[in-house]
Order: sequence, then C-alpha cells, then structure tokens
Amino acid sequence: MEYTTNYLKMSRVELLERVQMQMGERRFKHVLGVEEMAIALAGRYEADIEAASIAALTHDYAKERDRDEMQELIRKEGFDLDLLNYGSEIWHGPVGAFLVQKELGVQDDLILDAIRKHTVGASEMTLLDKIIYVADFIEPNRDFPGVAEAREIAIRNLDEAVAFETKHTLHYLIEKNTKIYPQTIATYNTWVAKS
Ligand SMILES: [Fe+2]
Ligand SMILES: [Fe+2]
Repeated sequence: MEYTTNYLKMSRVELLERVQMQMGERRFKHVLGVEEMAIALAGRYEADIEAASIAALTHDYAKERDRDEMQELIRKEGFDLDLLNYGSEIWHGPVGAFLVQKELGVQDDLILDAIRKHTVGASEMTLLDKIIYVADFIEPNRDFPGVAEAREIAIRNLDEAVAFETKHTLHYLIEKNTKIYPQTIATYNTWVAKS
C-alpha cells in the first residue's frame, strides 16, 4: 500500500523499518498480522484504510521499551499516575501513543487514540479504536480457544466483537487473579453489561 502524506511523512516501507527496530521478530510478525486484519476490518466497516494500517503497525511500538523508561515517562509526561499501580502490560498503550507522536511524527488524534486504547479499551470508542482493539485480538497468528468465534463475530458485528473480546480478557485476568485497571471495567460496563 502506498501512503499519502496525510498522516505520516514517511512511506509504509520506512515505517515498517522503524517499527521493526523496536521489537523482536515474533512481535513484528504479530504487528503485521494486526495490520492485515485491521485493513480487512476497515474495508468491511468502511473506515480509512491508511489510518488503520498506520495505527496497526504502530500499536505495539512501545511494548518492548524498558520498564524503567516507561515508568519515568508516565511520571514526567503527565500520564494517569494510577497506571503505576497496575501491571506494566497496560503501559505500552498510552506511552506508545506518546512515543509514536514524538518519534514518528504521527499527529492524527484518531490514530493516537486507537494506540492509546488498544489494551484496555474505553467506554467511548471510535470506529478506528474498535478496529485496532479487535484486530489485535484476532490477527492470523493468534491461536487460543475462542479465536475462531471471535473472528466470525468480528465480520458480523464489530461492537459484538468488542464485547466478546472484553469479556474474554476479563475472564483471563480474573482467572490469574490480576489487578484490573478501572478503564477495563469501564469498557466492560459499556460494551458487555446489559444494564
Ligand atoms: Fe499491545
Ligand atoms: Fe498487539
């Protein structure tokens, strides 16, 4: 795919190189899978294909950053300090959005928001937020009980796919006795709970 200069001052190939430098081989493969799925969902739900590609390729940009570096950024750059009371697993969303803006020059709020929300979701989600959240969960390299059902749902109804994934993630966190970040609960209350 050829990028316009609407979102980024580099080509897709250049972006791929920049992203690849940030992560190991396995995660890079995951990122390419998320892009493939995000483009398919963007086609299905009439979203901006280029924005979907860029958000997908950059969503895990900070995932392999040093834990101390992320912690310092959270303290220094005005992030929700409550993040520090939860596992570092959830930091790479907000920190990633910050670094993608700073280091890659992405200024588009819809793309940055999709990166920011991709791990915990949110009660308010744009079409692009939902596409990245769901694509991350069902990309072709994913293999877990329920992934086939999640893929079917994603093609049928994107909101239902958000609900399915949120429920699945919460089940998993509860099973592991993990502390749950309040925004994950907010996502559950909006997209899963019936009343
Ligand atoms: Fe992630
Ligand atoms: Fe991911």
